[in-house]
Amino acid sequence: MRQKSFTPVARAWAFLGAALFSGSALFSGAANAGDLGRGQALHDTFCVACHEPALYQREDRLANTYLEIRQQVERWQGNARLRWSPQDIESVAEFLANRHYKVPH
Ligand code: HEC
Repeated sequence: MRQKSFTPVARAWAFLGAALFSGSALFSGAANAGDLGRGQALHDTFCVACHEPALYQREDRLANTYLEIRQQVERWQGNARLRWSPQDIESVAEFLANRHYKVPH
């Protein structure tokens, strides 16, 4: 009896574990390659309201490495309350690094 009542709980934990595991596997795969096209679409839709891309080329720009670009994207999507997924943040960072900052990933 006792054994039976524990089974669904154990199943739920196993399921959760599997879901978390596959989720993190998916995430690390996506983190390696942002989607440039999606990054451009997101950026051009949500991010050009305040600044033109010329901002990314100014002499005293804030970001100079891929990591710094990614941090700025994370910061600004947060400021704009867009709730982007890690993949979307990665895609926009990839787009900015590739097309505007011209720094390697
Ligand atoms: C509400 C206005 C506003 C919106 C919306 C906005 N930004 Fe910005 N952003 C700014 C301002 C102002 C700065 C420069 C000053 C600062 O960082 O304090 C900036 C700076 C940046 C920088 C750093 C530029 C540098 O100097 O290297 C990046 C990258 C950036 N924004 C990306 C984004 C992205 C991506 C989005 C869309 C999610 C976005 N911004 C949306 C106002 C905005």
